[in-house]
Amino acid sequence: MAIYPIRRFPDPVLAMKARSVETFDDDVKRLTDDMFETMYNAPGVGLAAPQIGVSKRVFVADIGEGPFLMINPTIVEQTGKWKYEEGCLSVPGRYWDIKRYDYARAEGFDLSGNPIMYEGDELMGRVLQHEIDHLFGLLLLSHLGSRTKRQVLKELREESLDAQRGM
Ligand code: NI
Repeated sequence: MAIYPIRRFPDPVLAMKARSVETFDDDVKRLTDDMFETMYNAPGVGLAAPQIGVSKRVFVADIGEGPFLMINPTIVEQTGKWKYEEGCLSVPGRYWDIKRYDYARAEGFDLSGNPIMYEGDELMGRVLQHEIDHLFGLLLLSHLGSRTKRQVLKELREESLDAQRGM
């Protein structure tokens, strides 16, 4: 197992649409082992493969009820509204009140390629929506209002340039 560095905005891999997993082999198992280790080390409640630079439709999560993972997941139902102060390991240290659907149900596959389903409201619904967004190349920034988003993007780009300059 290995802990990977977590990619941060504006790393281009975070904006890419991830590819579906075609073969359920040991490589996918190793990938998810490494993702769990990286997520728990961060610590975080969810991690999508693009966040460690792997553009595949895979995420791992644990909202305090035990680890689970989904391969090639899709949201099949979402209802209600819930506002929650949300953060992302790829935009560290920042949290915003973000309104999303309260309940979400996602269908996908486990490591053996068997169909699986996860569902829930509040934090469970939130993590499903957040992680599956990552697989479409969407960060939580895409859920901010346009004025807030412009300001935040400007700040994050400046921080990223400062980091490159070693400041
Ligand atoms: Ni995230």
